[in-house]
Amino acid sequence: MRILIVGSGGREHALAWKIKQSPLVDEVYSAPGNPGMDKIGPCFDVDPMDLHKMQELVLQLAPDLTVIGPEAPLAVGLSDALRARGFDVFAPSQAASQLETSKGFAKYLMAKYDIPTAAYQRFTDVAEALDYVGTQSAPYVIKADGLAAGKGVVICDNLEDAENEIEEMMTGKFGDASNAIIIEEFMTGEEASIFVLTDGDGALYLPAAQDHKRVGDGDVGPNTGGMGAYAPAPVVTPRQLELIQTLIVEPLLSGMAEDGMPYQGALYVGVMIAETGPRVVEFNARFGDPECQVLMAGLPGDIVPALLVCATGGLVQSHNSVSQMMGLLDFRPTATVVMASAGYPGSYEKGAVIKGVDAAGDIDGVSVFQAGCGVNGSGELIAEGGRVLGVTATGESLRQAVDRAYQGVDCIDWSTGFFRKDIGWRAL
Ligand code: AMP
Ligand code: GLY
Repeated sequence: MRILIVGSGGREHALAWKIKQSPLVDEVYSAPGNPGMDKIGPCFDVDPMDLHKMQELVLQLAPDLTVIGPEAPLAVGLSDALRARGFDVFAPSQAASQLETSKGFAKYLMAKYDIPTAAYQRFTDVAEALDYVGTQSAPYVIKADGLAAGKGVVICDNLEDAENEIEEMMTGKFGDASNAIIIEEFMTGEEASIFVLTDGDGALYLPAAQDHKRVGDGDVGPNTGGMGAYAPAPVVTPRQLELIQTLIVEPLLSGMAEDGMPYQGALYVGVMIAETGPRVVEFNARFGDPECQVLMAGLPGDIVPALLVCATGGLVQSHNSVSQMMGLLDFRPTATVVMASAGYPGSYEKGAVIKGVDAAGDIDGVSVFQAGCGVNGSGELIAEGGRVLGVTATGESLRQAVDRAYQGVDCIDWSTGFFRKDIGWRAL
């Protein structure tokens, strides 16, 4: 079997790495991939946003399954275009991925299906938004409606900042993505990420994960794409998971199927866990990054049967067998420490040489997933992006996993890289 992975981040490297281990799989292709993915199988330099070129590539490679990692190609209809050509795809349709690409749409569905989340209003008129925010109390949660590369949520402690943010967003701060905004109730509690693999009908729940969004130790500083993650996250108790299933995921999946846009692929439910129960912070139409690195490394079995059945249907019938094949009950505690370029999430320099990736990967239980990496003229690995490496480790306990991940980080020789030193602190 041949499987094509679309994307070039740490998430996609982890997917390629895991999928390549399946006895069902002969070849893993990537588009466009990265230097780490290139060691797993052929990479094709095709832009996932170019539907025409992607269709040509898929016709040429004829993969048995295409797994789309990031959200941006979903928003332009890549999954639909490939399905229309008769190919199986693990990823939601353009319509279903609006759960992530339009916060207003996600809020509308949650209201319609009675799913617990923060109270909100959506605005397309600045004056109305300003009037409304004046009637609310701090902290104020202001969100761009559309995709804003993970930067579209701003939480303001005072009214003046909130008013300024509303004006900036609605006058083009995120281009068209913030023409419409959401003003939302501030929720308290502890956040967790729940990942569900689904064919639109059945659902497989992966162990709950937690990521570390802020750039600095102790969860301070600006938000990033994620500086590290771990699983399982003890904050999601069996009771909370049951509530997440019955109050959130089941009504969402059945409602979307009834509304003619069944959700297939990986569903990411960002939840706020409070004593009163879980509430949705956001949905994403994909695996999280770096949560995916943690989940792929921690699953001892074969994930491919689950991906295939989600893409083609029949998960309810084969739920137990695919769950057993991926080793869901034997999930090992896992942690990922992200190494990023100095300056991230602001501007950073590119081109510094990175050494020691192989040495880190030689440590028992450690795998290093590449993200913003390139190769220079001398064939050396270099940093080209903000988040660059995801040093990932499994262990008998989370403590051991975290210790091993930091041993891996110690092997990396990269003058301008930095990382958080407290990954997993909430659970440890
Ligand atoms: P999102 O992109 O929607 O996940 O938002 C980014 C981050 O902002 C979340 O991970 C939360 O930490 C925070 N956030 C978003 N919405 C709320 C809310 N209604 N109440 C409290 N925190 C929120
Ligand atoms: N780690 C958060 C995300 O992937 O959106």
